[in-house]
Amino acid sequence: MGAPAGVVPRHVAIVMDGNGRWARQRRLPRTAGHRAGVKTVRVIVEECLRRRIEALTLFAFSSENWRRPRAEVDLLMQLFLHTLRGEVRQLHENGVRLRIIGERGAFPDTLRRHMAEAEALTAGNDALQLQVAANYGGRWDIAQAAQRLAADCAAGRLAPTAIDETALAARLAGADLPDPDLFVRTGGEKRMSNFLLWQSAYAELYFTDLLWPEFDEDAFGLALADYAARQRRFGLTGEQVVAMSARAGG
Ligand code: FPP
Repeated sequence: MGAPAGVVPRHVAIVMDGNGRWARQRRLPRTAGHRAGVKTVRVIVEECLRRRIEALTLFAFSSENWRRPRAEVDLLMQLFLHTLRGEVRQLHENGVRLRIIGERGAFPDTLRRHMAEAEALTAGNDALQLQVAANYGGRWDIAQAAQRLAADCAAGRLAPTAIDETALAARLAGADLPDPDLFVRTGGEKRMSNFLLWQSAYAELYFTDLLWPEFDEDAFGLALADYAARQRRFGLTGEQVVAMSARAGG
């Protein structure tokens, strides 16, 4: 037995893969694939708003992406800046709160300033929590949470014996959001690639061969339908889940 029909995930996390291959198939430069990828971002954000999904986290740039050719990294930086400048007003009008997660010290000053301005402008919105992971790595996130725990212990604000899963989770990026329920990766690979490692412990994983620029409303709808048909057990037996769901009227 699956989850009740119409179950919508509260938080969707997406690894947007396949921009380069999409471009190569069309004999275009890889950068054209990233530009096409921005259009898909717009479509998926609108779908999340329409479907009243609370949170969306997009993996835009991993800690490892700095190793790409200099020209591609530069283009991605320009594209982030251009997209922030061009989209933030519309996001704000639609009630989207935008946050950037990751180590942003490595980004150019102008980009960092625009990130901070966009976050400040949209801080009061609650129609959709949009997190863009930039220079992000799941292991980095866990390490920075550990550093914060250590700092709190050193300052006498926290006893080492009080360190538990809740204390660590509270210091991760996006700690105020529910954990991702659905983890989507486009582009055919079946890996998590160091994205939201801790937070996705119980996420349902969904992989599609579609390349990110090809992922549209219908493809997203299929991912959501697949999610709705699954039974999430959180370590319980199937019978326990069915009984709990019946008690909750689901
Ligand atoms: C992975 O495809 C994609 C990226 C590393 C960049 C993702 C960026 C965008 C979609 C545009 C900007 C997004 C925002 C939120 C402003 P790939 O290049 O690894 O593709 P490949 O595996 O086919 O080479």
